[in-house]
Amino acid sequence: MKLFVDTAKVEHIKEVASWGVLSGVTTNPSLIAKEGRDFRPVIEEICAIVDGPISAEAVSLDAEGMLKEAREYSKWHDNVIIKLPMTDEGLKATAGCTEEGIKTNVTLIFSPMQALLAAKAGATYVSPFVGRLDDISHVGMELVQTIVAMYDNYGIETEVIVASVRSPLHVVDAALLGAHIATIPYKIFKQMLHHPLTDKGIQAFLDDWAKVPK
Ligand code: E4P
Repeated sequence: MKLFVDTAKVEHIKEVASWGVLSGVTTNPSLIAKEGRDFRPVIEEICAIVDGPISAEAVSLDAEGMLKEAREYSKWHDNVIIKLPMTDEGLKATAGCTEEGIKTNVTLIFSPMQALLAAKAGATYVSPFVGRLDDISHVGMELVQTIVAMYDNYGIETEVIVASVRSPLHVVDAALLGAHIATIPYKIFKQMLHHPLTDKGIQAFLDDWAKVPK
C-alpha cells in the first residue's frame, strides 16, 4: 500500500518525505485555505518535494468549469491529479478528463455505487472518506472493503485512496483490506512512528552503553 500525506503544509510534507515513505500528496480546498497562500505556488512547491501524484481539487460546480480548471492545473506539473467531486457534473468532468488524458481523483465517495460510477467514468483514483462515515456511526472501512472487492471482481484499474483517516488503526485496516493507498494527516504519521517501548528501549541501551568502559 502506498502512503500519501493529506496536507498542504509544505514543512510537514518535507518532513514525511525525508523519512523515505511518501508516494504522493492529497490536498483539498480546506487544507489549501489553512495555508493562507495562493493555490498554484503551493501545488508547485509540493510537486518539487514529492515525485508522485499530487491532488489539486477543482471547485467549479459544473463540468465545463471543472474541465477548465483541470486543463489549467494539469499544466502546472506532470504529477498534478485533478480532484473532482462525486456529482453528475463531476462524473462528466471525469469522463472529459479521461478523454483528454488528464488523471483524476474522484473525491467525497460515501457509497459503493458512487465508487463504481466514478470508475466507469475513468477515474484514476477514488477517495472514500472513512472518518466522516465513522463520525455518523457508519463503519467507514466497510465501504473500503466493498469497493476493493468490487474492483477486484472486474479487474477495475481505478485505485482506492483511503481518505479522511483519523487514526493509525485506519491505516492498518486499509492495508489489511488491500486498499492501494492511504492518505494520512501529518499528525497520524507521527502517531504511527512512535511507540513508548521503542523510546524506552533506546533509553535503556543508551544507559547501558554509558557503562561500557571506553
Ligand atoms: C482526502 O483527500 C481529503 O483531503 C481528506 O482526507 C478529508 O479528510 P477530513 O474528513 O479529515 O477532512
